[in-house]
Amino acid sequence: MDKPLKGYFGHYGGQYVPETLVSALTELEKAYEYYTAQKEFWAELNSYYRDYSGRPTPLFLAPRLSEHYSAEDLKLKIYLKREDLNHTGAHKINNALGQVLLAKRMGKQRIIAETGAGQHGVATATVAAHFDMKCCIYMGAVDMQRQALNVYKMRLLGAEVIPATGGTQTLKDACNEAIRDWVANSLDTHYIIGSVVGPHPYPVMVRDFQRVIGEETKDQIITKEGRLPDIIAACVGGGSNAMGMFYPFLQEEEVKLVGLEAAGEGLESGRHAASLSRGRQGVLHGAFSYLLQNDDGQIEEAHSISAGLDYPGVGPEHSMLKDSGRVKYLGVQDQAALAAFHQLTKLEGIIPALESAHALAFLEELKSFIPRDAEKETIVVINLSGRGDKDIDTVREEAGHEQHNGA
Ligand SMILES: Cc1ncc(COP(=O)(O)O)c(C=O)c1O
Repeated sequence: MDKPLKGYFGHYGGQYVPETLVSALTELEKAYEYYTAQKEFWAELNSYYRDYSGRPTPLFLAPRLSEHYSAEDLKLKIYLKREDLNHTGAHKINNALGQVLLAKRMGKQRIIAETGAGQHGVATATVAAHFDMKCCIYMGAVDMQRQALNVYKMRLLGAEVIPATGGTQTLKDACNEAIRDWVANSLDTHYIIGSVVGPHPYPVMVRDFQRVIGEETKDQIITKEGRLPDIIAACVGGGSNAMGMFYPFLQEEEVKLVGLEAAGEGLESGRHAASLSRGRQGVLHGAFSYLLQNDDGQIEEAHSISAGLDYPGVGPEHSMLKDSGRVKYLGVQDQAALAAFHQLTKLEGIIPALESAHALAFLEELKSFIPRDAEKETIVVINLSGRGDKDIDTVREEAGHEQHNGA
């Protein structure tokens, strides 16, 4: 069998970039390999995970949620991996910490990033403040409105937030602007990409900084239950919280893995962000993967109620996992995510991010994943990638619309 090509997942991934970026990517790849081979690098990162971010995050058995979905012939234990309890409120800090430690060692003085929901921007501005580095965050002008609280937080943290006003003024356009900046300034600037997307080595590097989620989950569930879970579900935007959760379980064939994409107003509506379920293969932001495009190969507008899932592409490793069938990908519509948001809030007193609510909505489809004759208890883990404070305005507006329409 052919050895897999470096930087590729099957035939997905690669480095489809202008020549001006090749030397910056080569420098990054070498630094990544060099420093992550050192125990001292991981020791420092692990101490930041523990003392700065609050890891390990708990694996919480949600009693009322479990009861709600259990039935006479279906005994369920639903666990939540509480990434929302990280410092800054989401899993994004895991990756930002890893990359800033790398940037420091590379002698960079300036950090740039793109952000959609603002969680990655806040995480990046946070680590830049702590390490005393200049920070510039690109954010779609539409997302800046949807996530005004996070914009304010980034500015408080000392970051410059620059609106991306091209295209749909969302995450894809923020990525374009960040790449443009990096091409011009790569000598002193490190670009912290926020998901498992972009050219090699980003998809591998971001996954490796996020796989702490799955590694902890594995240890925690074995301690609590003495066995692995039956099903694990996570939402997929670019795919970093899902990849971090799934990666340590990929070889455990008995564990079913499910990724939830944003089906927006419906997969048939044309207004969604389901790159894996409805996209075709092509190149976006330096990597070959599934993406939303029209017949001429132009990138199509993505839509989701959650800014963090509103991206027309997806990490290349997910594309490989879709083709191989190891991970099953489903779409969750805006209204189903909203219902799951309210349900967790009421049943468990935990307000989830709208992105994470897509993973919670999977519980409605759960029955079809469990064999009818299953005698044992079914253990499910949902990755709660972030907390919902940033989404309160969106949810309030939606409630207003509903009241208005129902009146
Ligand atoms: C809380 C939360 N979950 C999930 C995502 C989606 O990103 P990814 O698919 O890379 O985990 C985001 C993105 O901003 C987010 O803020």
